[in-house]
Amino acid sequence: MPAAYYLDWLQVAGEEALHFTLLREHLLSLGHEYGDFPAHDGLWIMTERTAHDPIARMALVPRTLEARGLDATPPLQRKFAAAGDARAVEILGIILRDEIGHVAIGNRWYRWLCEREGLDPVALYPELAARYEAPRPRPPFNLAARTAAGFSAEELAYLSG
Ligand SMILES: [Fe+2]
Repeated sequence: MPAAYYLDWLQVAGEEALHFTLLREHLLSLGHEYGDFPAHDGLWIMTERTAHDPIARMALVPRTLEARGLDATPPLQRKFAAAGDARAVEILGIILRDEIGHVAIGNRWYRWLCEREGLDPVALYPELAARYEAPRPRPPFNLAARTAAGFSAEELAYLSG
């Protein structure tokens, strides 16, 4: 892959580390530590499942699972706001802003790889999702964030259909 690909993902890694630090510090301020509460590892499972195939990795980790985070964050922010945790709302705002960039990087390299291989990115996606048993995205979708992350009108229509 070109050097720009690795630079993009190193930037993502740096931002993920920042998110972890922000969340861990907030947990510590509330008397808890990372690991005190159960969490799923769906994103990591998909990362391992697609380790041999960069097109599937781009399709299913940033463009599916990180994109799901774009949908999940606003409702989560509303829950924290209702619980009076303004700092959590603020941290989730930082994460949402950065995650739009992560999904955009996934979209960029997914399309780049499809073009290199002569594959249709829209037609290929459902094939990869089925082959790797990716979770089906569920509404409500954060269409503004997904549009900002570079999903096309055709791809957004597929989601909603
Ligand atoms: Fe991310």
